[in-house]
Amino acid sequence: MNGPPAQAWLNTLLTLLQDGQLALLRLWHVLHLSGDAHGQPAWPWARRIAGETLLIDLGLARQVAWSLAAISVALACLAVASIWRGKRLTWLAAAALTLILAPWPSPALLFTPAAPTSFHRSPTRFSTDSIAHGARLYAQHCTACHGEDGRGEGPLAAGLLRWPPTFVGPLLGRRADGDLFWHIANGMRDSDGRQTMPAFSRKLDDADTWAVIEYTKALAAGTAASTFGTWPIPMRLFDVTVRCGQDGGRAMADWRGHQRVRVVAFEGDAGGLPLEDPRFLTLLLTRDGKPLVNVPQFRAGCVAASPLAWDAYARIAGIAPNRLAGTEFLADRGGWLRARSLPGRDAWGTADLLCSTGQVNKDRGPTSPGTDGLTSLLLRMDAEPVRFVQGGFIH
Ligand code: HEC
Repeated sequence: MNGPPAQAWLNTLLTLLQDGQLALLRLWHVLHLSGDAHGQPAWPWARRIAGETLLIDLGLARQVAWSLAAISVALACLAVASIWRGKRLTWLAAAALTLILAPWPSPALLFTPAAPTSFHRSPTRFSTDSIAHGARLYAQHCTACHGEDGRGEGPLAAGLLRWPPTFVGPLLGRRADGDLFWHIANGMRDSDGRQTMPAFSRKLDDADTWAVIEYTKALAAGTAASTFGTWPIPMRLFDVTVRCGQDGGRAMADWRGHQRVRVVAFEGDAGGLPLEDPRFLTLLLTRDGKPLVNVPQFRAGCVAASPLAWDAYARIAGIAPNRLAGTEFLADRGGWLRARSLPGRDAWGTADLLCSTGQVNKDRGPTSPGTDGLTSLLLRMDAEPVRFVQGGFIH
């Protein structure tokens, strides 16, 4: 999993730099100094701050932090100089000295090439529809090189200039979505300018490209879950219309981040229905996406109102759809999917945690003896919150 290092100052710095760049992007767009690219405001510069480098190079990150502090001090000195006329020269000198003494970072390290779409966000909200659409496109356009399971071992792979990377690792989670978008739309080249990955902008429109990006993430999660028993990148609960009792339905995306959710793939007779638990909302997946009928004990329960949800969850569980019944998933309060329990297992335990950040806050960890497996798991999820990093920046 790609949690950032625990330093709070580094998290603050990365958030500040990301927000600063987004603010500049918006300002340029509002002032009509930059246009649109692929339906969203375009990043007008050829470079951006290399958040991914700052994340691993603490020395560089410290230089950036001190330089930002120096700029603030210099600005404060200028402000004083403008008011305090008698000592203006002294304050101007202080501002200049602060800037001269600042440990300016090397621009070559601080900046990295950017694309007009580098800061674009996926509009598809990781929905079950986009995953299903992306699956079809992936099978048609990408499997030959990237392989059915996303490990980069498709039939054409060995004959290529460069071996396709495996998606079954942190790659897709670390890269900004907007950079992935650009690479798929325009292809990639090696340092000699030779094409390594083909461009797809003529075959895939913008919505197709976003859908295939989301599908590759679900695919990567499923392959990693079945091979290593982990999810290499954090995934949100899929967006799908959820119907609870008689209500008209609402989007799961609007619920993400408010409460824990347990997702249960349910098939068979009502006797096998899971008991409600006050610690989370229970969401049932049914094969046809229809609510349960004549089941009094689940009358007010929530059901994913799309048959596509079943396949999407089977994909990230890394098991075939016809074997999904009985599988359960747990999402934390932030809306991140964290754990999977396979059919036939009678109790949850911390071993079911597939998305772990490895940054347990020991003071809050599950230590008391006698705690049951599910409680330990929930405590561990709370003690290890996901801080999602993409392009080096926290989202
Ligand atoms: C002809 C083979 C081929 C096909 C077809 C292909 N790729 Fe690739 N892909 C590659 C190679 C090779 C690389 C590594 C390129 C490099 O690093 O220079 C790559 C890299 C990538 C990356 C990594 C991008 C990054 O930022 O590092 C992604 C994502 C990707 N491909 C997605 C796709 C998707 C989605 C499709 C289908 C729409 C697809 N590819 C089709 C060969 C292919």
